[in-house]
Amino acid sequence: MGAASGAVPLRVGVLASGEGSNLQALLDTVHGHEALVVAVAADKPTAGALQRAREAGIETAVFPIGEFADRGTRDAAIADWLVAHDVQLVVLAGYMALLTSPLLGRFPDAVVNIHPSLLPAFPGIRAIEQAVDYGVKVFGVTVHFVLDDGGVDTGPVIVQRAVTLDNASDPAAVHEALRPVEHALLPEAVRLIARGAVARDPANPRRTVVTADETPAQAPHA
Ligand code: GRF
Repeated sequence: MGAASGAVPLRVGVLASGEGSNLQALLDTVHGHEALVVAVAADKPTAGALQRAREAGIETAVFPIGEFADRGTRDAAIADWLVAHDVQLVVLAGYMALLTSPLLGRFPDAVVNIHPSLLPAFPGIRAIEQAVDYGVKVFGVTVHFVLDDGGVDTGPVIVQRAVTLDNASDPAAVHEALRPVEHALLPEAVRLIARGAVARDPANPRRTVVTADETPAQAPHA
């Protein structure tokens, strides 16, 4: 597992493409406690996440695809930058580019992604629109590992949370309903990883074993 547990905060690097509300959720919760966000990168300079990072005094970088020969070359550059910041866990918080081996291979079991559906349903882009079009009554959010498996949103699930919406017809309204769930679930996943509470099941690589925080109650003094 890429993340260590213990008092030293987990060093987190975040990749984002959008407004960064999930990054903000990390900054408002686990940052400075179980985790320390030390680097935030985007694939375009207009990502609002960059401004949120700058306001928090966190180093930022932009890796536009146009500046690189191909995605693999770009991902190698991102990986070098993350390694230079001693990142232990890479969090994809609304990062819209697919990652390739030059990055995923450098962070085995240490890249996680948040996705606005109950995977394996509705992987890929426009997940909420897919779910609305399908007519589901239960929507949700998944945080999962991103493995170098050539898949899209196929990594082992870490945490999921369902949201029942009986008559959803507007993807934007569904997204608004899911946002608070995302902003609770991503920090929870990072917190669990920082505590060393997430392991891969050796009997089934698709499964994760999440150890609830069962700090044994102190026996009353006799
Ligand atoms: C979120 O809905 C997340 O689930 C998806 O991309 C969106 C990012 O939103 N992967 P934000 O940029 O964090 O506000």
